[in-house]
Amino acid sequence: MRILSIAALCLAAALPALARTPPSAAAQPSRLGLCAGCHGVTGHASMPGVPNLAGQPLDYLRNALGQYRDGRRAVPLMRAAIGPLDEADLDALARWYSAQSPQSQAQP
Ligand code: HEC
Repeated sequence: MRILSIAALCLAAALPALARTPPSAAAQPSRLGLCAGCHGVTGHASMPGVPNLAGQPLDYLRNALGQYRDGRRAVPLMRAAIGPLDEADLDALARWYSAQSPQSQAQP
């Protein structure tokens, strides 16, 4: 009996952790800061020569990132930028930029 109530207590303590919802697809990726300097937080580039990423199709962005990584697109700058990232990071970043509005924000 005692064992059972201890087990029940443990279960009750573990439940809130299990119920925690995963981060939504719209959450800002943790590595966004590595890209935002050139591509902007919302994918509107702040520098000449840097493409806008906002609202580009997810597959397109994901493929482009793969091509920088494997050298099919030989752009040392982009290759260096994604160097430290794993595939899950690249997925999250592509999803983020793809979900942004391609409309540029009004300037204040
Ligand atoms: C130092 C500036 C810089 C940083 C930092 C940077 N980029 Fe880029 N990015 C560029 C430039 C310049 C290009 C255009 C390269 C080319 O001609 O292919 C580019 C191209 C791209 C493209 C292809 C866009 C297209 O229309 O084909 C994607 C996707 C991309 N970057 C994603 C990222 C992500 C994700 C990060 C962060 C991990 C990042 N970039 C960090 C400068 C940067």
